Amino acid sequence: MSYNIALQFEDGVSRIIPCEGHELVSDAAFRAKINIPLDCRDGACGACKCHCESGDYELSEYIEDAMTEDEAAQGFVLTCRMRPKSDCVLKVPTNSAACKIEATSHEGVLSSIDRGSPTTVTFSLNIDRPLAFLPGQYVNLQVPRHKELRAYSFSSAPNQTTLSFLIRDVPGGLMSGFMRDKAEPGDKMSFVGPYGSFYLRKPERPVLMLAGGTGLAPFLSMLRWLKDNPTNQRILLAYGVNANDDLVELDTLEELKAALPNFRYFTVVVDSTSGHKRTGYVTNHLGVEDLNGGDVDIYVCGPPPMVEGVRRWTAGLGVTPRSFHFEKFSATHEAAK
Ligand SMILES: Cc1cc2nc3c(=O)[nH]c(=O)nc-3n(C[C@H](O)[C@H](O)[C@H](O)COP(=O)(O)OP(=O)(O)OC[C@H]3O[C@@H](n4cnc5c(N)ncnc54)[C@H](O)[C@@H]3O)c2cc1C
Ligand code: FES
Repeated sequence: MSYNIALQFEDGVSRIIPCEGHELVSDAAFRAKINIPLDCRDGACGACKCHCESGDYELSEYIEDAMTEDEAAQGFVLTCRMRPKSDCVLKVPTNSAACKIEATSHEGVLSSIDRGSPTTVTFSLNIDRPLAFLPGQYVNLQVPRHKELRAYSFSSAPNQTTLSFLIRDVPGGLMSGFMRDKAEPGDKMSFVGPYGSFYLRKPERPVLMLAGGTGLAPFLSMLRWLKDNPTNQRILLAYGVNANDDLVELDTLEELKAALPNFRYFTVVVDSTSGHKRTGYVTNHLGVEDLNGGDVDIYVCGPPPMVEGVRRWTAGLGVTPRSFHFEKFSATHEAAK
């Protein structure tokens, strides 16, 4: 049986490679022409140590000098001793260039574009082959007829030939202006990726998702992925926007709620004159009980102040969540600094 092993590098680049259940992960990486760190190939030196973020595996014999019992208990693995028993996500403690990986370029054709919302454009790209990525990751899309790239999170699930995105219409924005005024179905668009360490880990406790504006996109990808990979854990999404017009994809959220028995969501609008039944920030409508005594995985995506606001909120309640993952939708040129 073949499994997907996602290799996640320190610089945010990721690559998903196939690995047979009887095969060593280091051999599968070699076959995929990825030079992950290796030395003895015999479980003796520890050079190939990575952290397994999710997935099941078995390790054949190695010595304590290569990896301690504590490290093994924390989920570290030696890839030269590791055989997968499910899909796995591995954090490789080096950057992709050191492993001779170049980010992969792709080309897609704009298949649909929806400008129904005054503030958000949703669009889809068709590609030739299904694209593997982790639900929550993003790509750098090239602005057509320009050299510049902008980061956008997938809102579609992995491994499909149609990729979807949500873009906030930023006044004066190069990419958002193009999508609002000029883009037409049939246009070709290039992109590079996937990238990012903001992806859904296997849910092992309740999951709290907080989305700000188009920060909803990666959560749609995660929730769509969960339809095919169900969990018994509770998933709560708090989706906040500035004004009523910014609320998008509500039909999709309803469909996801119907398909995922443990999933619920609510929406909040900052504008106090909006008439929406919940106004203010999303954290005003969450309670300490939603933090489950700290035994919760928190995922936050949206504008940078929102991410900081959520951190202050948990700290103010005196709760340290088991894990806190975030993606800041900063201007792409600022994110690159
Ligand atoms: C990892 C990552 C993932 C992202 N995913 C998404 C996504 O899924 N959907 C989405 O809508 N955006 C996303 N963004 C933001 C996106 O990459 C662009 O920055 C944004 O769309 C603006 O691009 P633009 O070309 O339209 O504007 P630009 O021409 O880059 O900027 C025009 C003006 O707006 C300001 N500006 C740019 N971006 C922002 C911003 N985010 N907030 C406030 N002011 C801004 C600029 O400083 C400039 O003054 C993501 C950013 C990162 C870093
Ligand atoms: S390469 Fe030496 S322990 Fe794996």
